[in-house]
Amino acid sequence: MPLSVPMADALEGGMIVSIEALRLAARRILPRWLFDYVDGGAYSETTMRRNLAALVERYFVPQVLRGISRPNARTTLFGHQQDVPVMLAPVGMAGMLSPQGEIKAARAAARQGVTACLSHFSIVSVEDVARVVDPVSLAFQLYIFRDRDLTRDMVSRAWACGIRTLVVTVDTPVTPMRARDARNGFRNLSRLSARHVGHMALRPAWSWAAARRGGRTMGNLDRYGMGTNLFAQAATIARELDPDIGWHDLAWLRDVWKGKLVVKGVMLPEDTVECVRIGAEGIVISNHGGRQLDGAVAGFDVLEENVRAAGGRAQMVVDGGFRYGSDVVKALALGASGVMLGRPYAYGLATDGEQGVVDVLEYFRQGIHSTMTLLGLGDLSVVKDIRMTSFDK
Ligand SMILES: Cc1cc2nc3c(=O)[nH]c(=O)nc-3n(C[C@H](O)[C@H](O)[C@H](O)COP(=O)(O)O)c2cc1C
Repeated sequence: MPLSVPMADALEGGMIVSIEALRLAARRILPRWLFDYVDGGAYSETTMRRNLAALVERYFVPQVLRGISRPNARTTLFGHQQDVPVMLAPVGMAGMLSPQGEIKAARAAARQGVTACLSHFSIVSVEDVARVVDPVSLAFQLYIFRDRDLTRDMVSRAWACGIRTLVVTVDTPVTPMRARDARNGFRNLSRLSARHVGHMALRPAWSWAAARRGGRTMGNLDRYGMGTNLFAQAATIARELDPDIGWHDLAWLRDVWKGKLVVKGVMLPEDTVECVRIGAEGIVISNHGGRQLDGAVAGFDVLEENVRAAGGRAQMVVDGGFRYGSDVVKALALGASGVMLGRPYAYGLATDGEQGVVDVLEYFRQGIHSTMTLLGLGDLSVVKDIRMTSFDK
């Protein structure tokens, strides 16, 4: 298939030039309300900006003459062999970005030898995604609903599909103001307005594909009577997400789920200790891509102290603002086992479907490999020895 013009702009010699170029390409493809939903954050978007800034503030001090022509970035994350230590983060409604978007993302991840974490709020259901890729390369992200029977049912469905890693997100007891969504009338929406249709008219390729696709609901929720369209479901979710979840709920989930349990959205070392005590095998240090608490530190800022708190008893993953392979290596040097990527692959999916996500993962793979070679790092067993510095002290 010929490339879309915006995608061609983001490529040079078949390679993505930068995630920022891809972001601009996605902006030219998606209707404004959908691009802003992906691209935006909470209130002042300070947290979102901090995620990017935190990574810029750390610098490598490289070693030379180590003869590393073929670095090896292989690793194991939550029992799954990975070619590189990155995972696709859960992105709600990714199927809006491209028809069957979650299937395309999962396929791309499998092709590139990494894990894809499917959002509870995906358009394609977990059953339909798990049917097309080896479920071992998938993780399922769960929100705890007020209705625990419904929550337990969702957990059983993921297990029945062959998925063995459950990622429970704990940083979302409420959804704060996201100014761009509010301005675009994308909060509290009951149906598309003339303005939304106007935005869509300016993006004919996306609109044509959207008109032809099926699946205009969040597939995982279809069977629970939570609404017959996306907007009705979104309104029900807002009421169903339990703002009162506490540690006893994590303990309950630990009891219910027999596979690997990963807690996403932790920032404080004391909380990491408690997750480990309850029996979590993994923790994602994350501020939800700056979409939740405004004015929060970046996951990368607090990674080291959380790694220390876990003391090797859980695998530590971090996310938020990772846009280069070198960013990933910085996190590994501070003790992370892996990094989740959110918006980068969402932009890729919007711009060129499955191939767009493959291209994003290839961009990170090459970036990680070239960084390792330049650091004199043959494999990840010694990544923690890499020297880094910052100038803010
Ligand atoms: C459009 C969008 C939807 C998201 N939906 C979810 C979700 O359903 N569940 C979840 O745990 N995190 C969700 N996240 C957060 C991501 O999993 C991840 O923490 C964040 O995107 C990482 O930051 P980055 O986008 O800068 O890479 C979402 C992020 C975006 C951008």
